[in-house]
Amino acid sequence: MDLKQLITEIEQEIAAAEIKGQEQLEAFRIAYLGSKNKLKDLYKELKSVPNELKKEVGQAINALKTLAEDKFNEAAEANSKKSSGNLSKFDLSRPAEEIEIGARHPLAVVRNEIIEIFSRIGFSVSEGPEIEDDWHNFSALNFPPEHPARDMQDTFFIQKGDDEMALRTHTSSVQVRVMEGEEPPIRTISPGRVYRNEAISARAHCFFHQVEGLYIDTDVSFADLKQTLLYFAKEMFGEKAEIRLRPSYFPFTEPSAEVDVSCTICNGDGCNVCKYTGFLEILGCGMVDPNVLEACGIDSKKYAGFAFGMGVERIAQLKYRVNDLRLYSENDVRFLEQFKSAY
Ligand code: DAH
Repeated sequence: MDLKQLITEIEQEIAAAEIKGQEQLEAFRIAYLGSKNKLKDLYKELKSVPNELKKEVGQAINALKTLAEDKFNEAAEANSKKSSGNLSKFDLSRPAEEIEIGARHPLAVVRNEIIEIFSRIGFSVSEGPEIEDDWHNFSALNFPPEHPARDMQDTFFIQKGDDEMALRTHTSSVQVRVMEGEEPPIRTISPGRVYRNEAISARAHCFFHQVEGLYIDTDVSFADLKQTLLYFAKEMFGEKAEIRLRPSYFPFTEPSAEVDVSCTICNGDGCNVCKYTGFLEILGCGMVDPNVLEACGIDSKKYAGFAFGMGVERIAQLKYRVNDLRLYSENDVRFLEQFKSAY
């Protein structure tokens, strides 16, 4: 009889099925135990089997089902043993290998710290282009036309179409851009790279980094400038840090000053780093010259402001005692690795 033969065939098929791996196991499950499995057709056929044979045939189909289930369970168990067998090849108690993480560049570390210190007292960050025109780098900042700083010695000039442009020599150019574009009150710092045509040595480089600060509002005084810089020095170099202002000259500020911080190495007692003066120079600053305010479209009768500019390499040198500027751009990993713990 057809049905009996079919049962025998499927029985042989099941017995002979080789189940290796997860995929074959799933294929077997679908064929013999899934919602549209082959045995379901046999059960349907059972209806047309003569009554006296129904019991016998029904049992045969049930036996097939049991056979398929047993075969499936057996294969599934073998399968999972095999994969846990794989796992046992690994020594899970072995300490993990150390993962080498990169380090931030020391100049980025210091720049981020400066930004953070000033952002705590409400300064935003603004940036400007490294290729600048004469107006933003010099003229608007009150440099007279014959000022020696425009000299070829200091500035890299480049030709851009018909225009003579320059690589900015300081981030003070960003002051001008901010004042031209915004209404006071203005409170911003501008970090960035600057360029000067200097021979490369331990103490000078043709490019370095600055952070410019600018504060414009009604009633801004020199006392505000001093207090802001004292706050900065203490945040950057520690609570014991003191500052000292010396009169100086910049075309864009009046009055102008240079700021020293008490020596980070001897705390002001005198050592060879501060040349026994107890102080180290860290930045230039002053009250924004009214000529600069007017050149940038700000009413100098209504508004006043202060500005300052510091070298990032200089701050990093004092914080990390790096004495050669060239180290910052040589990318020697033995140098860079030492800043791993810094953020
Ligand atoms: N631009 C100056 C320089 O590169 C630094 C500076 C001095 C910036 C005084 C200022 C400032 O904003 O007020 O040497």
